[in-house]
Amino acid sequence: MLSDSSWLRSLTISRRRIVLLLLAGGLIFVFSIYLEWSGYTNLTSLPWPTLSPSPADLSPSDSLSDIFFPGGLPEEDHSWMAENDRTIASLFRCVEQGNCRNQTKVVILAGGPFRGVLRGDNGGEAIWANSTIIALQRLGYSFLYSSSRERTSHLYSMFRNLVIAIFADVPDVKACFHDHDCVRVERNLRGIPAWKLFSFHFWSSADNPLGRKWTLSPELVSDIIHVEAVTDHSLDAVERYCILGVSHSMPLADQSPDSYNTYLGYSIEPQCAHQTHIPFDVRPAQAFVYSKHVQNFNGSKYAWAPDFFDEASAAAGVEFIAGVHGTDLPEFFPSNITNVGFMAQADFYSVVANSRVVIGVGRPVTHVLSRFSVSHFGSTKSGHRSPTPYEALCFGVPFINPILNWDRKNPTDRTRWDSQHDTLKYLDPPHVYNVFKDDKEGFINAVVQATSTPIESFVLPDMRISAIEARLGGILETDWKAEAAELLADRKASRVGETFWL
Ligand SMILES: *[C@@H]1O[C@H](CO)[C@@H](O)[C@H](O)[C@H]1NC(C)=O
Ligand SMILES: *[C@@H]1O[C@H](CO)[C@@H](O)[C@H](O)[C@H]1NC(C)=O
Ligand SMILES: *[C@@H]1O[C@H](CO)[C@@H](O)[C@H](O)[C@H]1NC(C)=O
Ligand SMILES: *[C@@H]1O[C@H](CO)[C@@H](O)[C@H](O)[C@H]1NC(C)=O
Repeated sequence: MLSDSSWLRSLTISRRRIVLLLLAGGLIFVFSIYLEWSGYTNLTSLPWPTLSPSPADLSPSDSLSDIFFPGGLPEEDHSWMAENDRTIASLFRCVEQGNCRNQTKVVILAGGPFRGVLRGDNGGEAIWANSTIIALQRLGYSFLYSSSRERTSHLYSMFRNLVIAIFADVPDVKACFHDHDCVRVERNLRGIPAWKLFSFHFWSSADNPLGRKWTLSPELVSDIIHVEAVTDHSLDAVERYCILGVSHSMPLADQSPDSYNTYLGYSIEPQCAHQTHIPFDVRPAQAFVYSKHVQNFNGSKYAWAPDFFDEASAAAGVEFIAGVHGTDLPEFFPSNITNVGFMAQADFYSVVANSRVVIGVGRPVTHVLSRFSVSHFGSTKSGHRSPTPYEALCFGVPFINPILNWDRKNPTDRTRWDSQHDTLKYLDPPHVYNVFKDDKEGFINAVVQATSTPIESFVLPDMRISAIEARLGGILETDWKAEAAELLADRKASRVGETFWL
């Protein structure tokens, strides 16, 4: 047994060893917390990453990236935890090497659609989330996935000052805003500042405690306004209008700066790239009638009549095909359309890309909600533009867009057109053929022209990945704290709206 003094002596002798042990112990502790946060402890079925070497092997000069992420991860692992590990490792490395650029700016992706992308979802929300991820990659920002509000809080407190924004689902944003263990308030100064919380919101409503500016939108909700200034509707004019729409964010219709959600937008380019381009002359004489539901061929929103297809088929020498659910087709379904049934996405793309035109039938109607259209048409329009006509144009396939309603006294006034696709109504042949409902001659002419006039692949300027990148860069460089300070001052002065901590 050692006396007090010899114990002290042995302690002095092995101080270096003790320091190393303490360091190793600390690292194990930190790392176990990290594992707990990142969810490894709950997911035993996933491959384990190579963990740090045993503490005894560590040398004090090892870099953090080597200590935490020595061997790299299995390449096939695209779980969000693995993606986070890669991102953190790369962030550590750039700090160690002193060559970080945008990497030290961290965005936390807490919204469900972001994890949906990793799972391989391909619905509208996943397309939008994917565009956002691709734009973040191109800008070189670090982004970390989170799967719950608690994890978002942990990630935030770990990377605190580096986190410039959190893109989350509306319920989580609201819950965090009202939870004093989550949001930054006087008694929780480590919490997430409300102004870093953005709603990643697919719909047009303002759904963030701080209002529309903090609500990100996949659509430009007020495009109609700017087009009035455009007199000729050539592609050039449309490009100009699109640029206009982005740079002057919605001034006229409503003077309040808080009237529109922040337009982030999405791109179909990444998906479109999966489909090989079919040269026009190689395509069969085939026209694709676009509607998943047979009911769209019936009722007042149906733009054509069955004999339109018979006559157009004779005039253009094309076969009409559609992919509607079900095999038991009702009487009203045009006999000249062959139904190939509902298709998986890859087959659907292939059929569209192999067609000479895509024809809308009136529904699904894809209006955009805007204050302007509400006051102008006296009705509320909401819903979303379907990506199918955009995808078709990207494959080099023109679109026939039915106009369901218009100003009878001034039928050429496009701002008054109520069409199946209200963005594309501003385009002209050979890309888009706008045809009035029930206009048989117009329909036949459009089918004949479209199936004999090739176009190149076309993506609206606003919907290119480069445009998403530019907008996202602008959003992330905005001084949101200053914006929030202004909003807070307004709310305090007017006593309207909830206050918050900066
Ligand atoms: C996401 O982007 C990748 C390309 O980076 C693409 O392969 C994939 O199809 C896209 N998925 C969706 C849902 O858009
Ligand atoms: C077609 O639409 C009309 C109303 O527009 C409706 O009465 C009728 O039941 C529909 N037909 C079928 C087969 O659904
Ligand atoms: C489609 O229309 C063409 C031209 O009118 C006609 O020859 C053909 O028989 C029709 N096909 C069907 C399946 O009704
Ligand atoms: C960093 O991000 C900004 C936009 O926030 C962008 O303009 C800039 O090009 C990015 N820098 C690099 C090196 O990618």
